[in-house]
Amino acid sequence: MPDFVGAVDQGTTSSRFMIFDHDGGEVARYQLEHHQLLPRAGWVEHDPVEIWERTNSVMQNALRAGGLSPSDLAAIGITNQRETTVIWDPRDGRPYYNAIVWQDTRTDTIASALERDGHGETIRRKAGLPPATYFSGGKIKWILENVDGVREAAEAGHALFGNTDAWVLWNLTGGPSGGIHATDVTNASRTMLMNLETLDWDDELLDIFGIPRAMLPVINPSSHPEAYGQARTSRPLRTATPITGVLGDQQAATVGQVCFAPGEAKNTYGTGNFLLLNTGSELVRSTSGLLTTVAYQFGDSPAVYALEGSMAVTGSAVQWLRDQMKVIDDAPGSERLALTVEDNGGIYFVPAFSGLFAPYWRSDARGAIVGLTRYNTNGHLARATLEAICYQSRDVVEAMERDAGIHLDVLRVDGGVTDNELCMQIQADVLGVPVSRPVIAETTALGAAYAAGLATGFWRDTDELRSHWSESRRWEPQWSEERRAEGYAGWKKAVERTLNWVP
Ligand code: G3P
Repeated sequence: MPDFVGAVDQGTTSSRFMIFDHDGGEVARYQLEHHQLLPRAGWVEHDPVEIWERTNSVMQNALRAGGLSPSDLAAIGITNQRETTVIWDPRDGRPYYNAIVWQDTRTDTIASALERDGHGETIRRKAGLPPATYFSGGKIKWILENVDGVREAAEAGHALFGNTDAWVLWNLTGGPSGGIHATDVTNASRTMLMNLETLDWDDELLDIFGIPRAMLPVINPSSHPEAYGQARTSRPLRTATPITGVLGDQQAATVGQVCFAPGEAKNTYGTGNFLLLNTGSELVRSTSGLLTTVAYQFGDSPAVYALEGSMAVTGSAVQWLRDQMKVIDDAPGSERLALTVEDNGGIYFVPAFSGLFAPYWRSDARGAIVGLTRYNTNGHLARATLEAICYQSRDVVEAMERDAGIHLDVLRVDGGVTDNELCMQIQADVLGVPVSRPVIAETTALGAAYAAGLATGFWRDTDELRSHWSESRRWEPQWSEERRAEGYAGWKKAVERTLNWVP
């Protein structure tokens, strides 16, 4: 059997391909960014063709970097930015419109109409999600209603929907000459169209959105030996490599962090933050503003569910400091700048650029920096930005503890922002619990590789995967209880100021 497993990680800002060995160790990687298209306030798009081309390119380059050939890969997994919506013509492979990204808020009137027309409860009960701009259903509806000819094409079977997993899979397995149109349960659970109990598209939900079933992909388990076909000969790998794992990036990180038991949770710090708590085969309905979602489904085993707290803007607030405000030159600069001051100098930054996600779900919110005085410097702004990442996570941890009746005694973290030592220290301080980062911090790609490798017997079972996990760094809380309580009260007050901004 070949010695390695590969994983495509098609994320919000970049696509990468990573190759792992039997111990879960990284053997090679290659990564390329793609353009963020911002045509209007609140709109965020990607070019699907660019995404496919870059994915294609990173696969070849990673293999080259590792001195490997495609036949060295036992299997490939695919993981992806979730919810981002692509609709394309299967006859020529051309997208009808740019991908509408998960952060895009153009569907706010669709989301509020769903609530107003009394569909909110049905969507919550069946799909586990509140009507919000975040999920794919409204984005599909928007394209059907606003892009000429797409509705007719969809009804005639000439328009396919996919999140970027399905788009990459379809291209990788043959595109217009026979690509496979499929997705997995975790991605489907982010559309507002899948019934969490049947794990199939739900006719009542499809009716509510007016979406023809013919345009939707087949829903498969996240790990399966045959359901996703093979990367075709003429495609980047030029060999028939089986694709045996597909799952959304946050669910992949949950698998990469080996959160296989109910009660185990991870928090991934990327463009946004996503905290997922494994609730086992039990579907826990949130009363505190969390999402109910599928964590993974391996082969014929029952699906495992999770409660999720999604935070739209965390690492991307640091990017905003860099790209728009130009107060830092690079992401590590946020740590250096924040270290020039002792504390936040009384200011709070609530980066509600896409409204507020969990646990608030307020699309009428917009960002604010509050508490400013003449005393404040860029250093305070940098510190307030890092604190915003941590306070949003505290909001979600509190909601999770209420919903699941558990007390988190350590928070497992991963993702790019966890390189920021100060941010992780603040996270421990703000939560009052230790924060722990694993040796293999690339948990998203690793989780997709795990799903793929489990399906082919490359890895025996989840116990074997557990044995790969070990801690590399732990941050202990240092703030007094008083400072923690005061800081959090200030944050809650700042959040209040961002609400009701958009009519
Ligand atoms: O739900 C959105 C999430 O999947 C995006 O993750 O890491 O690509 O920003 P990321």
